[in-house]
Amino acid sequence: MPVVILGIESSCDETSAAVCADGVILSNVIANQTIHEAYGGVVPELASRVHQQNIVPAVEQALLNAKVNKNDIDAVAFTRGPGLLGSLLVGVSFAKAFALAKNIPLIEINHMQAHVLAHFIGDNKPAFPFLCLTVSGGHTQIVLVKDFFDMEVIGQTLDDAAGEAMDKTSKILGLPYPGGPLIDKYARLGNPDAFKFPEPQIPGFDFSFSGLKTAILYFVRDNVAINPDFIQQNLYDICASVEKRIATILLNKLNKAAQTYNIKDIALAGGVSANTGLRQGLQTLGDKNNWRCFIPKLEYCTDNAAMIAIAGYYKFLKGEFVGQEVTPLARYPLAP
Ligand code: KG4
Ligand code: ZN
Repeated sequence: MPVVILGIESSCDETSAAVCADGVILSNVIANQTIHEAYGGVVPELASRVHQQNIVPAVEQALLNAKVNKNDIDAVAFTRGPGLLGSLLVGVSFAKAFALAKNIPLIEINHMQAHVLAHFIGDNKPAFPFLCLTVSGGHTQIVLVKDFFDMEVIGQTLDDAAGEAMDKTSKILGLPYPGGPLIDKYARLGNPDAFKFPEPQIPGFDFSFSGLKTAILYFVRDNVAINPDFIQQNLYDICASVEKRIATILLNKLNKAAQTYNIKDIALAGGVSANTGLRQGLQTLGDKNNWRCFIPKLEYCTDNAAMIAIAGYYKFLKGEFVGQEVTPLARYPLAP
């Protein structure tokens, strides 16, 4: 009999449920929350309310799509953190109730580890040790992945995350939330060398995006003061230039880490890894350096429960379970 894991993700604004059998994903249902668009960012209270509405239908749909009966689930894996506490509580409470009702084990998962472990979905898996650049709305990390649950953060942002830089740029340009996908779309139509934005000089493998954000803000403000139509007339070029700068900041540090650690299996993870410029940039750099590049499928870049289910499968094999007393963690470092 295969080991069947139900995965639950509710850390931010996606309610997701997935089923995996012996490490193969059978279903991955993601309910996006559009309610936040009107507010220009995720409103935590609204996010948890919508999770409550979506969690049961998402799980039922995931079971239906996987053609798996509730009674065939061997364990429930859930995102314990990091994330918004009210959002996490919905998934954690659901997972605990399901495990109690079915008398099956509970598996807690660190969301950032799960983004990395999304690379173990499918046949093309990286070999340990590998490097993973995890870039999302809340995190920017270069992770040295020594084993499934043995990861070391060797570089991270000192201020804003790369996704925040994308989202804040889009806000400055008057675009709706979330801005990352729109910047990506418009960047394809623009000239990435039209405008030059600064690359911060931060030692080691760490990042900083707050200076870039300020530079973009002043650049737009100064140009709009001269020409009120500046944004409309240059939108595609601005998006292409900002995207190129964010991608080069990320890839230059990743390259430095790969050379220093002499590692040739290099992976991307997190919501920003959906970005076309970053994906292409990594592939080009990888071809030059003889790397094996691991770029996740789009559905496994942004938040999803498939990555929680796959991480849960590997914890199941180790017999790492938690009891009903487990609580969500808004802050949950990737490694001690
Ligand atoms: O991993 P994720 O879904 O949620 C967090 O855990 O934060 O990442 C969301 C972030 C947002 O900042 C969003 O704007 C960004 O990923 N993003 C993108 C793209 N798709 C999502 N950024 C650039 N290009 C994209 N195509
Ligand atoms: Zn995420």
